Amino acid sequence: MKVLVIGSGGREHALAWAIAKSSRVSDVVCTPGNGGIARVARCISANQRDPDDLLRVIASESPELVVVGPEMPLSLGLTDALHLRGVPVFGPTRKAAMLETSKSFAKRFMQRHNIPTANYAVAGSEKEALGSIDLFHLPVVIKADGLAAGKGVILCATKREATEAISGLFSGALLGAPEDAIVIEEFLVGEEISFLTLTDGKHVAPLAPAQDHKRIGEGDTGPNTGGMGVYSTDGMLDTQMKEWILHHIAQPTVDGMAAEETPFTGVLYIGLMMTARGPMVLEYNARFGDPETQAIVARMDSDLMEALQACVEGRLSDTELRWKPGASACVIAASGGYPGAYATGKPIGGLDAAASIPGVEIFHSGTALVDDSYVTSGGRVLGATAAAATLDESLALAYEALNRIHFDGMYYRRDIGRHALKSRLR
Ligand code: AMP
Ligand code: GLY
Repeated sequence: MKVLVIGSGGREHALAWAIAKSSRVSDVVCTPGNGGIARVARCISANQRDPDDLLRVIASESPELVVVGPEMPLSLGLTDALHLRGVPVFGPTRKAAMLETSKSFAKRFMQRHNIPTANYAVAGSEKEALGSIDLFHLPVVIKADGLAAGKGVILCATKREATEAISGLFSGALLGAPEDAIVIEEFLVGEEISFLTLTDGKHVAPLAPAQDHKRIGEGDTGPNTGGMGVYSTDGMLDTQMKEWILHHIAQPTVDGMAAEETPFTGVLYIGLMMTARGPMVLEYNARFGDPETQAIVARMDSDLMEALQACVEGRLSDTELRWKPGASACVIAASGGYPGAYATGKPIGGLDAAASIPGVEIFHSGTALVDDSYVTSGGRVLGATAAAATLDESLALAYEALNRIHFDGMYYRRDIGRHALKSRLR
């Protein structure tokens, strides 16, 4: 069958790579794709922020399944438009994707369905927000309601910081456009886990758990990024905890969305904080994580395509996902300056030498092919990914791969997974 993947990052490279391995798949197309994806899929340029442009490509390609990578096309209703046209699509409708695209919707939804999450208040104006702030202990978390590409969450240690965050969000000074609403939230303490699940709107199948490293600097310092590295191990969540999360968080979310007549199908990505009071939801995403997906597909021992199709066809209960025991890791190499301004067009060397290490895959996030050579084209450039019997081994393989790769300004964190090696997450 022919599958069309939408997106242009490392997540989509990993998805296209895993889909292309399926015996069911004869043709993988990616729009717009990137330099690395072009090795596993035919790439067709299109504007991911323009559903009409994507629909044009989909109509001309006639895929048997569309897999949507990023949140933007979901938030613009691409899935709804494909449903109307009878094109099978993996990814939630615009309304279901509101679990990610509106934090106030997600918080109220969790409250309606008794899903554990931080205490919160929603404010529709600066005045209302300033009135609510005294109800919270410091530190407090201020969040933009809408999509903000990782920039909409501000951790505030003082009331002054909170007041500045509130006025910055409502004025538009912080995110470029004014917010209509914000969420004020209790500050939670604990380990963060990315708990991704597949769902057909009724049944839920967990993917291997992962832990992301969102800050740019080693020791979790500096500004937030899209994710600088991730690892996944068996020991991260024991069976009992996984069952608890499934029964008290994942399944009630899917059941709640179905009961509210906005059934959710696709990937339900649950961002958890493992607090002293138990797991609590920090956020939902309506899509695969990046770079979680790179580490997850590296551990997957079953056919991803079969599982995606089962979700779309409402028969996930028949599908069993199998995982390689052990661990995986993905370490991101970024352009110097990211997440601030950075240069592009830098030639990348050593890719073949890195990919020749057994067990290593290099997933490209921001690369372009120019005259048969790879150059950088984004902030996050690539992710060295490896699965192995232990976390130490998978990290050693990923770092050995990065040792062999070079481009001007290349930066990566050298401490991915190090905290896990010392703690019970191992
Ligand atoms: P979000 O986009 O809501 O996941 O927030 C981005 C990051 O901010 C999370 O990955 C956490 O590291 C942090 N964060 C969000 N909400 C809270 C909270 N209530 N308490 C502590 N940290 C938080
Ligand atoms: N790695 C975090 C995310 O995909 O949202």
